[in-house]
Order: sequence, then C-alpha cells, then structure tokens
Amino acid sequence: MLSAQMRILTLETTCDETAAAIVTDQLEVLASIVASQDDLHARFRGVVPEIAARAHVERILPVIDQTLQQAGMKLCELEAIAVANTPGLAGSLLVGLMAAKTLSLTLGIPLVAINHLHAHIYACRISSGREIFPCVGLIVSGGHTSLYRCAGPLEFHLLGGTIDDAAGEAFDKVANMLGLPFPGGPEVSRVAQTGDPQAFQFPRSFLKDPERLEFSFSGLKTAVRYQIASPDCKDLSTVKLEPQRIADLAASFQEAVVDCLVGKSLQALETTGLKRLCVGGGVAANQRFRTRLAEVAKKHQFDFLIAPLELCTDNAVMGAIAFERLQAGLVDGLDLDVAPGLVRK
Ligand code: KG4
Ligand code: ZN
Repeated sequence: MLSAQMRILTLETTCDETAAAIVTDQLEVLASIVASQDDLHARFRGVVPEIAARAHVERILPVIDQTLQQAGMKLCELEAIAVANTPGLAGSLLVGLMAAKTLSLTLGIPLVAINHLHAHIYACRISSGREIFPCVGLIVSGGHTSLYRCAGPLEFHLLGGTIDDAAGEAFDKVANMLGLPFPGGPEVSRVAQTGDPQAFQFPRSFLKDPERLEFSFSGLKTAVRYQIASPDCKDLSTVKLEPQRIADLAASFQEAVVDCLVGKSLQALETTGLKRLCVGGGVAANQRFRTRLAEVAKKHQFDFLIAPLELCTDNAVMGAIAFERLQAGLVDGLDLDVAPGLVRK
C-alpha cells in the first residue's frame, strides 16, 4: 500500500509576485499560481515597494483560493504552511507572513520559514528530481547576485555577492536607459539577439581577481550610460538612438554581465573544489547566459543544473525546500518575523 503523501501550501510574496503552490513531500507540484504585478510597476520602470505591498494584500487570498481549486483540495487537507520570510521587501514579506501565520494558527498546523534565495537554488532539485548537494549555488535575480557553498539543503554559506547593483537590477536599469519597457531583462535579451556583443568593450569588474568572489555592475551600467549620451545630457529620453545601436549596446552589456557571472561561478567551483553548479533566479532565464554556462560546464566537466524557465522568476513551487526543514524537525513559531536584508551565512 502507498503511504499517504504529505501536502503543504507554500507562499511567496518577497517582491512583486504574489504566488502560492501546493507541493508534496515527493516534490510533486499539485498546484501553482503566480500573480504578477508587472503591469502596476511598469510605468515607474521599477518595483515600488508600497504599491507591491498593497497589491499583495489584495491578491493573497484569491491566489490561495485559486491554488486550492487547482489542486482540488480544501484548507483542512493541508499539513503545513510554508512562507518566504527573507530576504525581500519588508512590506511585501509581511503580507505573506501574516497570511501564513493566520492559516497556521486557525488550522492548527506547523508554520515553516523559507529563505527565498535558498529556494531559488532548490528549484534545480525540484526540476531535476535528483540530489544536488553539495554544490556551488548562484542566485541571479532582480535583488541579488550571490554565490553560495551549499553543503546541504539546510547549509548555505555565502561566498560572495554584489557590492552594488544586482544583475537583474542592472538589466532593468540599462533597459530603462535604452528606452525599453520594464521588466528590462527579457527586453534587453530580446533586442540583443540582433546586436554585436563585441561592439563595445564594457568593464568586467573583479573578473581577473579569482580571490574575490564578488560582483559589481554599477561601473558597467555607467559605461553604458556614457555610450548613450554625454555626461551633461540630463534627460536620456530625449536621445534618439538607432535600432542597431540599441541592439549593439544591449548585446555588449549582456555579454559583460554573462562573462562576470560565468567567470565568477568557475572561480567559486575552483575555490571550493566542488564539481557541481546550480543556478536560479530571474536572470537565469537569460538564453545567452544559459548557453554560455552549458558550454563552460562541458569544457570544464562539472555537473551543471539550471532552473527551468518557469521556476527562474519568482514562484512558490521552489518553496518545497520547506520539506527539508520539516524532515529535520524544524518548524517555526508564531513569533517568526520578516528579515528583509540578506542574511550573511
Ligand atoms: O527572481 P526574480 O523574479 O525576482 C527577484 O527575486 O528579484 O528576478 C527578476 C529579475 C528582473 O530584474 C528581470 O529583469 C530579470 O530577473 N530577468 C531577466 C530575464 N528574465 C527576467 N534578466 C535577463 N534576461 C532575462 N531573460
Ligand atoms: Zn527571487
């Protein structure tokens, strides 16, 4: 006889996606709903935290309802509630956490905290269906660019991260400068397809320093800015760029980001002696990046896993990492708080 599977509800409200999923302890996905807020933030060309938090308040209950419907389940059939409580926007995190605490308290089932960055890496575990630890984990998203030594699902040690902009943030800002809509990552990579990645030689910070497992994208962003117009131009929206120049700038910028991400990943593998790289986060959806990583993995013969496209950008399925805590007997109390900043461990 088959033993009954444990089913949990996972919630994700760290930034501007309101997401819920129901997953089993066999990492089977019974339902997944993601309500994007891109339309609300597009006219500001970036995520506005207060708008994000208010939108989460409006959407969280309908999203949970839809998720239950998709799974054909009732609330009383859930065995735990997991929620991403770190890192992220404080107001956004609070909405998910309060919903999760309320469900945990009223249903009398355990509450489990999820680290959003660890969950991005765990997306590789869910999609591959095989063991991924130990590995070097690279998270490339709108808010973070971080390398971890992941000894196990509950043991993530930060090797280094960005000292200024995150990779996705740089994509979004460069898209804005080029007059492309938000979110900028998919737009920059779309126009880059017809551009020359060697047209401009943009900086690749720290790339030649293997000791330094850090990233910096602000100099790169500034270099793109000065190719668009002279420093005394105060309003880039008045600058008319030829489509080919936009494509060349986008392709050269993307190549510089990809060089840094790929180069630092290789250096992290060398430093740690690990033979497996797992990559997740919104920027992992970038096709050029995926291709380049696959090429270096083949050349340097390391095991390489990257989240499938639907699990790169924010979603609640990756919150299935909560099972690792549950199985280790770790649950959280109703005094669980949000931790907006990156936890350095
Ligand atoms: O992981 P995510 O959904 O949210 C955060 O946790 O930040 O990542 C969103 C980021 C945005 O900055 C977006 O521009 C970027 O991922 N992104 C991409 C691509 N698709 C999304 N960047 C480059 N190329 C893409 N194809
Ligand atoms: Zn994310």
